[in-house]
Amino acid sequence: MTCLPYGRQTIDEDDIAAVAAALRAPQLTCGPLVARFEAALAAWLGAPCATVCASGTAALHLTYAALGIGEGDEIITTPITFSATAAAAYYVGATVRIADVDPRTGNLAPASADMAELSALARRHGLRIVEDACHALGASYRGVRVGAGDSDAVVFSFHPVKHITTGEGGAVIVRDPDVKHRLERLRQHGIERDHARIAAPAGPWVYEVQELGWNYRLSDIACALGLAQLAKLDRFVAERRRLAAHYRAEIARVFGDGVAAPVELADRESAYHLFAVAIDFARLGTTRARAMARLAAAGIATQVHYIPLLHHPLHARRCPGERARPRPGVDHYYARTLSLPLYPALTPADATRVVEELRRVLGESP
Ligand SMILES: Cc1ncc(COP(=O)(O)O)c(C=O)c1O
Repeated sequence: MTCLPYGRQTIDEDDIAAVAAALRAPQLTCGPLVARFEAALAAWLGAPCATVCASGTAALHLTYAALGIGEGDEIITTPITFSATAAAAYYVGATVRIADVDPRTGNLAPASADMAELSALARRHGLRIVEDACHALGASYRGVRVGAGDSDAVVFSFHPVKHITTGEGGAVIVRDPDVKHRLERLRQHGIERDHARIAAPAGPWVYEVQELGWNYRLSDIACALGLAQLAKLDRFVAERRRLAAHYRAEIARVFGDGVAAPVELADRESAYHLFAVAIDFARLGTTRARAMARLAAAGIATQVHYIPLLHHPLHARRCPGERARPRPGVDHYYARTLSLPLYPALTPADATRVVEELRRVLGESP
């Protein structure tokens, strides 16, 4: 029996050759591949520039810091996200407010789930928008690639289950050149090397540690892998979209009400990092735990994206004022969501098998 993970990387011989070549190069880190990967990523996105770093989490931390978010500031986010979206705010001393989500899409929903309305809201109130787009490389909204829009910053992750991988890695897209400069400084210990930005440099060796930063660099080895992967991103996204369409057709064929494919609205294209279906377990007379265990026994790994932030002790402790507020959208979404296997190497036959097994486990008596 082949076991299907819920997500995994796609590594070809050209990726391995690119990494091997990088290992033979004079510089394993701080070399030329970093700027090359940044330029290629920005060009692919249609963004002015990109700053790569050690992980998506590091990218969020750098972003909040470079935008000057700190003590006394608040970030407002969705609880249907990975811990790092909020944890990075704690790193800079900011507090976190937890919004509700649209029960159908699982997207952040202060009043509506739309990016255009979020942007208008932010403009009206002088807020900044940071898109945690770790699931959205290759997606587009109203014909514009995520990363090429007008948000203050957009963050990506290159963790192996994501659309492309560098092993671990991340990137930040910003439009403001001063913020870009600060991202680079913070990525490297807060070190400033530009003599035009140092009061009285005594000689060519001089650099200044101007603020507290971190080592969040991405190595040339990782960037070599990123460049090779980026060259295949169009194909990876097309394969994910084809598989999603196949899943959608199979779900419509096999299930009536009770199991719904993810909603993809007409003005956007998902890059399908996940294929998160909504299952009314209670109505079908079963539980998610039982269904997941039975799928696992059939060699099919599934996941839940995500356990709402406030269910975790860390976030409950950090956001005590947020706990009491009702979030009906979150409750509805979390009770039903289940991520089925999806990655470019999955075959349509695998996806059919997943749907057939799902039918079997949901139809079984408890
Ligand atoms: C929504 C979201 N934000 C942030 C992260 C953190 O990215 P990384 O694992 O690269 O640190 C992830 C990764 O799982 C994510 O899915």
